Amino acid sequence: MTDRDCYHIPVMLKETLDSFLIDKDGDYLDCTLGGGGHAKAILEIISEKGTLLGIDRDEEAIDQASSLLNSYKNFSAANISFANIMKLDNIVFGLKFDGILMDLGVSSHQIDEPRRGFSYLSSGKLDMRMNKNDELDAYTVVNNYTEEKLKEIFYKYGEEKKARYIALNICKAREENPIRTTKELSEIIERSVPYKNRIKSLSRIFQAIRIEVNNELGEIEEFLKISLKILKKKGRVAVMSYHSLEDRIVKKFINDMAEGCICPKDFPQCICNKVPIVKKITKKPIIASDEEIKINPRARSTKLRVFELI
Ligand SMILES: C[S@@+](CC[C@H](N)C(=O)[O-])C[C@H]1O[C@@H](n2cnc3c(N)ncnc32)[C@H](O)[C@@H]1O
Repeated sequence: MTDRDCYHIPVMLKETLDSFLIDKDGDYLDCTLGGGGHAKAILEIISEKGTLLGIDRDEEAIDQASSLLNSYKNFSAANISFANIMKLDNIVFGLKFDGILMDLGVSSHQIDEPRRGFSYLSSGKLDMRMNKNDELDAYTVVNNYTEEKLKEIFYKYGEEKKARYIALNICKAREENPIRTTKELSEIIERSVPYKNRIKSLSRIFQAIRIEVNNELGEIEEFLKISLKILKKKGRVAVMSYHSLEDRIVKKFINDMAEGCICPKDFPQCICNKVPIVKKITKKPIIASDEEIKINPRARSTKLRVFELI
């Protein structure tokens, strides 16, 4: 199976469901509905009393998952980004959840559709917006950002060593003509790095631009804070991340929220009044089994972390 085929398989399905689906009559939120793979499995488990709300910032994901799941009476869907979930009417009216799932990153649909511009494997317009109504797209990043800013996002979001050189070559190329397609961008990246590193660099630079276009890290930080307001007591959040930048944010958030008093040890008594708000359910991240990685190479980088509201 190629990396591209495996985007169709829900990652670490059993591990995820076991870790956060604790009450079959409960209310659940799938923040990253995508193709609806995890959502279908949740709906198969919960009772008629339970509910699942699925959200995705990509309208095409909502359409795709809704056609798969519309026979389930206890399923509803909304096209909104998770950082904006407080704007949904049922949340405003007090709906809270027993379990929340975040399966971060891109969906198979986004990767497979050349016109969405997410993949260096096919040629398409430089777009990469998960929500087509967002203003910032990959074309603007690649053609309008300064060389310095491009270098910064390639380092920061792609952890790419040749960031400086790739940014320089993009700026030289766009002096001649705007860079319009994923193919044109890929050729510039390939020219800028040693042949043996080209696939890794392509994937790092595409990842960096995607993160910038969709403000992916900002969305995660914002939603984790929000999750504390929309969980029921003892409700759980399960987060699957696919690269270290995402995982670092999740890990730090859980550590901060699970920590009690932070006063210096030699203080006679606590003055910070900090108490743990969440309990770590996973002390270390759960990773995919060797068997799953063999069938689905995409699972090799997945880290699953789970926390519970105290
Ligand atoms: C890896 S896919 C989810 C796959 C899904 N679990 C399945 O089984 O089919 C990630 C999905 O999350 C969505 N997404 C990413 N960031 C989002 C955000 N900030 N708010 C809402 N949806 C987001 C993407 O549009 C994409 O459809």
